[in-house]
Amino acid sequence: MKVVLGVAGGIAAYKACSLLRLLSEAGHDVTVVPTASALHFVGEATWAALSGKPVHTDVWSDITEVPHVRIGQEADLVVVAPATADLLARAATGQADDLLTNVLLTARCPVVMAPAMHTEMYEHPATQANIATLSERGVHVVPPASGRLTGRDTGPGRLPEPEQLFEVCVRELARASGGAAGARAATPRDDLAGRRVVVTAGGTREPLDPVRYLGNRSSGKQGYALAAVAARRGAQVVLVSAAALEAPAGVRVVPVETALQMEVAVRAEAAEADVVVMAAAVADFRPASYAGHKIKKTHEPGADGSADESAPVVPLVRNPDILAGLVDARGGAASPVVVGFAAETGDESASVLEHGRAKLARKGCDVLVVNEVGADVTFGKDDNTVHVLRRGSDAVLDVGPATKTLVAEAVWDVVADLL
Ligand code: CTP
Repeated sequence: MKVVLGVAGGIAAYKACSLLRLLSEAGHDVTVVPTASALHFVGEATWAALSGKPVHTDVWSDITEVPHVRIGQEADLVVVAPATADLLARAATGQADDLLTNVLLTARCPVVMAPAMHTEMYEHPATQANIATLSERGVHVVPPASGRLTGRDTGPGRLPEPEQLFEVCVRELARASGGAAGARAATPRDDLAGRRVVVTAGGTREPLDPVRYLGNRSSGKQGYALAAVAARRGAQVVLVSAAALEAPAGVRVVPVETALQMEVAVRAEAAEADVVVMAAAVADFRPASYAGHKIKKTHEPGADGSADESAPVVPLVRNPDILAGLVDARGGAASPVVVGFAAETGDESASVLEHGRAKLARKGCDVLVVNEVGADVTFGKDDNTVHVLRRGSDAVLDVGPATKTLVAEAVWDVVADLL
């Protein structure tokens, strides 16, 4: 198939040489379109020799063949690796000031972009807004890895390894060729079209009396991002929510408050679903009884007339495990695909990942998204770092730190593969 490899001007351009080889060796016809600044890192001769084709950065070469239109129109996939902050900005604002940005405007095939840059540039609100815009338009943005950058600094911003990018490309090409009636996949992505999806979000509240409840620190943002992304990728989405956030476009919200209410709603909605994602932080315990009136600090005076100032004891009872119930209810069947979340802190006995693996085995779900939590990480934040585990596989997909939207995209990539 025809693949355009766009290369922007970052030190990670050298890794794109390996991606080019992987794509060519898999039999694809690869055209490399570097930006002018990419050639400061890897020269024209290298790209031309590896791809077997002449390489241009501007729209003024081979003018009779109108390359600025033809290359994009004919492509089955465009992958930009690395995508620098500048390239993302130009793509997000629809500029057409070199050959690569022209290709991006004329392409009607899947587009993959792998941002790579220094952490500060990646985390800057301008870059994040550009990534969000591109991802909303259907670009498959591969979150950068975390680790050693140029120089001594470390952090998110590294280009993922070429093998990992190659896998994303293979998936996107398969999607492009498997579109309806052999049609090329349209942008935006619609690989969840026709799928019915249930997502839970937020932390349940377990009432104690009319003014108090037992709750937790979950904001619901990751669950809402999962619902929004699934809807954007074509799924019919029901969001069983214990959070009070604005409903994402095209998503039906079923509001609940307690674990018991969530269980009833999830059971009802899961009966028809292809996938259930339990992103909610469900309280494991609830107060054994509900006081119909506010529990007062000072109890009624006893026989001797003195007020009882002792602290009340609140007995708790276990809530049902909704996730385990879903796995039990489907018996040996493969549907619905069940995705669990595990909020872990790690301790002296095991790491976050070890706790995650044990939980995946215990819960019997298909995918477990493990995220590291604590007072200062994850809860209420817009970024998340997760490790995605699959039943029956030792592979771990590390995502982030990335926006909760990009984490959601990565989770749906894994689920779409299972479907
Ligand atoms: N979950 C659930 N019902 C519960 C508790 C949790 O469905 N009563 C789901 C959550 O939505 C999440 C997964 O189970 O997808 C993991 O929840 P977690 O509380 O981390 O796991 P627990 O089994 O409760 O383990 P522990 O609290 O001991 O870490």
